[in-house]
Amino acid sequence: MILEIHELSKEFANKDKQVNAVDKASFRVKSGEFAGIIGHSGSGKSTLFHLITGLLRPTSGSISIDELNVNTAGEPELALMRNQKIGYIFQEQCLLKNYTVLENVFMPGILCTGKSKEGIREKAEKLLELVGLSELKNSYPNEISGGEARRVAIARALINDPEIVIADEPTGSLDPDNSDIIMKLLRKVTDQGVAVIISTHDLSVLKYADKVFIMKNGNLSEKGSVVIRTASFEEAQELAEIELACFLPEEAATLEQIKSRLRAFPYHFQVAYLNHKIIGFVDGPVTDDDKISDRMYADVNVHKEEGSYQTVFGLNVLPEFRQKGFAHRLMHHLIKQAKREKRKAVILTCKENLIGFYEAMGFQNKGISNSLHGGAVWYDMELKL
Ligand SMILES: Nc1ncnc2c1ncn2[C@@H]1O[C@H](COP(=O)(O)OP(=O)(O)OP(=O)(O)O)[C@@H](O)[C@H]1O
Ligand SMILES: [Mg+2]
Repeated sequence: MILEIHELSKEFANKDKQVNAVDKASFRVKSGEFAGIIGHSGSGKSTLFHLITGLLRPTSGSISIDELNVNTAGEPELALMRNQKIGYIFQEQCLLKNYTVLENVFMPGILCTGKSKEGIREKAEKLLELVGLSELKNSYPNEISGGEARRVAIARALINDPEIVIADEPTGSLDPDNSDIIMKLLRKVTDQGVAVIISTHDLSVLKYADKVFIMKNGNLSEKGSVVIRTASFEEAQELAEIELACFLPEEAATLEQIKSRLRAFPYHFQVAYLNHKIIGFVDGPVTDDDKISDRMYADVNVHKEEGSYQTVFGLNVLPEFRQKGFAHRLMHHLIKQAKREKRKAVILTCKENLIGFYEAMGFQNKGISNSLHGGAVWYDMELKL
């Protein structure tokens, strides 16, 4: 089983403002994987889970569970999916209060057609044993503690042998011992081949997870994954070192040049950031010239706030991080930004060996450049926007 969401967004139009509760979230989780999503209150975790389970429809983007397209599936199909494929442990407690613990656990099993009532009851008893609550099977929800209620909810989520278990803050407001019991249980379920996704505020529970995602204002990023963001002036030295690792000494920008570029066009200086370390960057001023010329390297004043062309002075990725798609991501980021700002084209020069790389991204080779930067032969490349 593979659950995949791609560029998933959900906007809520509240009275006076629009909330992007989930903003272009992408991820993939498969059978036997335990994914943890950490994020502050209001960051969009529950909304994301409601989208995945089809309880809410996205504003844009896609959700698929194997061949099933959750966005376009009809309500009966979604109800069947939730009953048979997904075990959902809601953030709010939602045990049925007029039914016993045991009845709460086997209820979704009865709704699932084609299974014998006796078989389901037996299974419910086994699940209650698994979560350590056999003795409370005849109690009612108001007679058990919050931690016990959550364990009942987990047992209930497992009654139909789901392929995916989604647990929205399964350890919220529980003491460390109860938290641990629940996390170990979810880990055990994962090791039996189920995909488990949880949300939490509690960093300590994430040691059980195989993958950790961070949710912030609706944005989802994988911990240990690259974030692209604007460079800060304090990072000049680090950037100069990367420049030296990527270019020949006569072609590399000096620390002074990098500082003056950071002063002149900080918004056109984007870094790829991984685990507190910059692993690459792309930079270039905006100008009215349609070709790169050597005077641009010497004088950042050619930068225009409203220029027509986005140039690229350097696309650098540290050697140990190459061939992983980071250069593409940096370049795409810059192209997207240039499009947003309504530039006519992205222009750059490159050596012969990189012509193919840029052509694959849609650039056109305009022939040998006038630029003699560092004494090499450069080619003018242009991507019309
Ligand atoms: N039905 C709704 N209508 C309007 N806004 C909503 C709705 N549901 C959620 N929101 C808003 O979307 C944002 C994300 O909410 P969500 O419940 O997904 O956050 P959360 O990460 O689960 O928070 P918590 O950790 O507190 O449970 C919040 O700003 C919330 O106010
Ligand atoms: Mg929530």
